Amino acid sequence: MLKTKIAVLVSGGGTNLQALIDAESGGILQSGHIALVVSNVRGAYALERAEGAGIETLTLRKRDLGGQEGFEKALQEALESRGIQLIVLAGFMSILSADFTRRWPERIINVHPALIPSFCGKGFYGLHVHEAALAYGVKVTGATVHYVNEVPDGGRIIAQRAVYVEDGDTPESLQQRVMREAEWIILPRAAEQVSKEIMEGKK
Ligand code: GAR
Repeated sequence: MLKTKIAVLVSGGGTNLQALIDAESGGILQSGHIALVVSNVRGAYALERAEGAGIETLTLRKRDLGGQEGFEKALQEALESRGIQLIVLAGFMSILSADFTRRWPERIINVHPALIPSFCGKGFYGLHVHEAALAYGVKVTGATVHYVNEVPDGGRIIAQRAVYVEDGDTPESLQQRVMREAEWIILPRAAEQVSKEIMEGKK
């Protein structure tokens, strides 16, 4: 069966990448194949997860490539040369330029650890998102998978899942629950949905 070729972009621990890898081996992700993992951080643990699963890896750092433009040029070349059709941002802590996102309309998806439009946009990433949710005092938070366009966290929503905040939560405990109860579930499902649509020529 022909599958959508996926590149996963990471920056850190890669638990969402792991969820995608497990989804592919477990059959939840069946219309797409993870063909490449790109990190913008050298030595990110996500790279070890990819290597462990036999997936090709690449590290591209802005500082080695003369900044954002050089980084995106190298990224574009790496993706094109491998025939990548879908980009999944899984804990990728860098914003892609409008120039780049316009080349991949509805071909980039991202997982964000809050219910967009809450706690999103520039500056809201990783643990900061959960710090902000706790500081505001919300009782429900969650995760969102959305298409990536030129507006940070502003593209069309594909999936969301709510998670309750519990008394005594710390940013770390909330982050863990949001990952376990939301991100690791909705990201692989959304990757499957979009991969399937690409294979069926619907996109
Ligand atoms: C995840 O919670 C992801 O949603 C978030 O960073 C964490 C990465 O964890 N991403 C963002 O905040 C992007 N704006 P992981 O490396 O273990 O998947």
